[in-house]
Amino acid sequence: MKQTPYLFGLKMLSLILLTTLLSCAQQRMGANNADFVAADFARAQRQYDLLLRHSNFPRTLDTAGHVVGTDEWDWTGGFFPGALWYIYEYTKDPQVKAQATAWTERLEKAKDLTQHHDIGFVMYCSYGNALRLENDAAKVKKYQRTLVHSAESALKRFDPKVGLIKSWNEKASWDGKTRWKYPVIIDNMMNLELLFFASTLTGDPKYRNAAISHADHTLKNHFRSDYSTYHVVDYDPNSGAVLHQQTNQGYADNSTWSRGQGWAIYGYTLLYRETKDSKYLQAAQKAADFYMNHPNLPKDKVPYWDFNAGQDGYKPDVNYANRKLNYIPRDASAAALVSSALLELSTYTTGAEAKRYYSFAESTLKSLSSSEYLAEKGTNGGFILKHSTGSFPHKSEIDVPLIYADYYFLEALLRYKKLKGA
Ligand code: GLY
Repeated sequence: MKQTPYLFGLKMLSLILLTTLLSCAQQRMGANNADFVAADFARAQRQYDLLLRHSNFPRTLDTAGHVVGTDEWDWTGGFFPGALWYIYEYTKDPQVKAQATAWTERLEKAKDLTQHHDIGFVMYCSYGNALRLENDAAKVKKYQRTLVHSAESALKRFDPKVGLIKSWNEKASWDGKTRWKYPVIIDNMMNLELLFFASTLTGDPKYRNAAISHADHTLKNHFRSDYSTYHVVDYDPNSGAVLHQQTNQGYADNSTWSRGQGWAIYGYTLLYRETKDSKYLQAAQKAADFYMNHPNLPKDKVPYWDFNAGQDGYKPDVNYANRKLNYIPRDASAAALVSSALLELSTYTTGAEAKRYYSFAESTLKSLSSSEYLAEKGTNGGFILKHSTGSFPHKSEIDVPLIYADYYFLEALLRYKKLKGA
């Protein structure tokens, strides 16, 4: 049949309309489902354009909605450069790389951070990622030197008599009821990655040995029989005996602070990665099982700030009755870092077990990618995730964005993408 120009035009128009409709539907499905990683990174990059306008290391928002920044000595300084490195890793945008480099190098003096234990967070999340993604030989050498120097600083807080890295200097417990002499917090497990790196690079086992000693003592003294964790264990600096098992950021001494449980899952997963000692794998799995199977974990898998907040049988030292909130805040930072840890843990296990960790992480990441947690473009001060809690007992950073929630969210998305082979 002879095609008139009119018929041909009509056919072309229908084709264009159909293609447009299909592509819109795909985009909608993508944002909600398989391609949420791409949508999240696109959002992250736009959001961080806002955060880049600030001169200090962005940490959170204050109650008036202003960005709170920190200097190099805070425990959170490494997360913003680290998050920029993750955005660069995904986008390969050279401008993001230049920003990640500049923000990382601004942290150089923190290689001498010895006032508290968090040098691993500060230097490894920034310089560690820089080293992974930088090819320039001169920069690589410089970053390696900086990281080994940082590991030396970390060891200054390791006393062989006790066998652990001291988290904080001697101080009163947060409620003033106890004097902590050699407090070690579960979070400290995260600083060990830097020490393993330094031994691998230099061939000197002293960093690694300290990390293993720390992990072994923590395994013995921070876990309860159900593999939930104490936040703070205080040691006698002379004998190494355990003096107190308490909390700083949790609801009560016998409760389980969600982010602390997350640090334990992540920490022992990384210990297994570095040592291949099955006792660490077992600790990571049992800590993960406690978290994943907890009856008080909300359906969307973003935990309350403490698993036991407000429950019978948990006696807080603070009077929470005068707190105005009529809901229990969540902690998206715990959800993000647990997703990242579980994705790694899934690679050290097989069959149904591996699938369980992977699926739990996947569904947590989908929750975090929903409009409930993922900030709308141009909102949330430029941070990516909403609804994290820094320290409820201290009335500090409650239901706010936190830079480390963003960091571990981006890390988890990259791990997820890699495992999916996408
Ligand atoms: N390391 C401190 C925190 O998790 O809040």
